[in-house]
Amino acid sequence: MSRFQVVSGKGGTGKTTVAAALALALATEGRRTLLVEVEGRQGIAQLFGSEALPYEERAIAVAPGGGEVHALAIDAEQALLDYLQMFYKLGGAGRALKKLGAIDFATTVAPGVRDVLLTGKACEAVRRKDKQGRFVYDHVVMDAPPTGRITRFLNVNDEVAGLARIGPIHNQAQAVMRVLKSPETAVHLVTLLEEMPVQETADGIAELRAADLPVGRIVVNMVRPHLLDEDALRTASGGRRKEIAKALTRAGVTGSAGLVRPLVEQASAHAQRVGLEREQRAVLAGLGLPTVELPLVGEGVTLSSLHDLAAEFRKQGVGDETADAATAGPGGARRPARPGGGSARGMGS
Ligand SMILES: Nc1ncnc2c1ncn2[C@@H]1O[C@H](COP(=O)(O)OP(=O)(O)OP(=O)(O)O)[C@@H](O)[C@H]1O
Ligand SMILES: [Mg+2]
Repeated sequence: MSRFQVVSGKGGTGKTTVAAALALALATEGRRTLLVEVEGRQGIAQLFGSEALPYEERAIAVAPGGGEVHALAIDAEQALLDYLQMFYKLGGAGRALKKLGAIDFATTVAPGVRDVLLTGKACEAVRRKDKQGRFVYDHVVMDAPPTGRITRFLNVNDEVAGLARIGPIHNQAQAVMRVLKSPETAVHLVTLLEEMPVQETADGIAELRAADLPVGRIVVNMVRPHLLDEDALRTASGGRRKEIAKALTRAGVTGSAGLVRPLVEQASAHAQRVGLEREQRAVLAGLGLPTVELPLVGEGVTLSSLHDLAAEFRKQGVGDETADAATAGPGGARRPARPGGGSARGMGS
């Protein structure tokens, strides 16, 4: 499982929800995940019912087995101050620059620079190590910009090439691209089983591949259960009202004449939807990527349904590190289990 997980997808398909569930799924067994957002919308805070996130990493949830999800809302302006501090030791001067409005210039007028700062901060968290040389976060999950903007957002190198051919910004962009184009990164696309988001997913994958960015999985979100078996589906799509009325009478349901029409209409709408969903599933299958399906949870997404969606991820093999322990490589060593932490099952150590 790549250490940097980027979640994109068409607007409103559930990127924020899926990123949060994925962060929880990856935090089980005592691991530590960082969930980051980059669009200043405070979607993560809303989802976890916490206050607005400051520009500071803080624990927001505990996963089964004692793992922790930390969260950070990355702000370009703050990231620029970090960056100036890091490269030029300009803490105070950075603040002075900010007063002069120079930072507004850099973050609003040069969007390429803005993206370098946002992705740069995320990559810094991916690579950060503690004093013992272990990764501070086992995984970093990004609630990323939507499909239409993701390739450009991640392709920071191209963006800054015209701005800075040498110097620290150039080097920073190069370092960021080394992480983003490596197997350390996986870009997942969230979709629904509907024509528009599926089309956008196909286009997004083509764009990412053309830019040499590593595509991870397709996450089909809000999947509704199929209520009818094959026979019933055929009957329902045929809208065979008389047959159904007869069957009801045979089953001893009387006085059902007025019920039959709306029931048949509903069943036929359901059958039609199932048919359309099958078509979209076939299109997705043709894209040749591993797929995860997450159910539609009722009554809005709560913390408890986030945990259910995380469990669903794990059931479908995401977050089970035994599967790719072999590819963990140097630095893949786990920190010792914390109290209540769960290396008890002997996974991922
Ligand atoms: N599996 C699910 N079951 C039920 N509701 C869901 C599910 N996933 C997401 N939702 C709901 O769908 C809506 C959109 O989800 P979310 O905000 O995660 O999407 P998004 O792609 O991040 O949207 P945006 O493009 O605005 O950032 C929210 O109301 C969320 O609660
Ligand atoms: Mg969102």
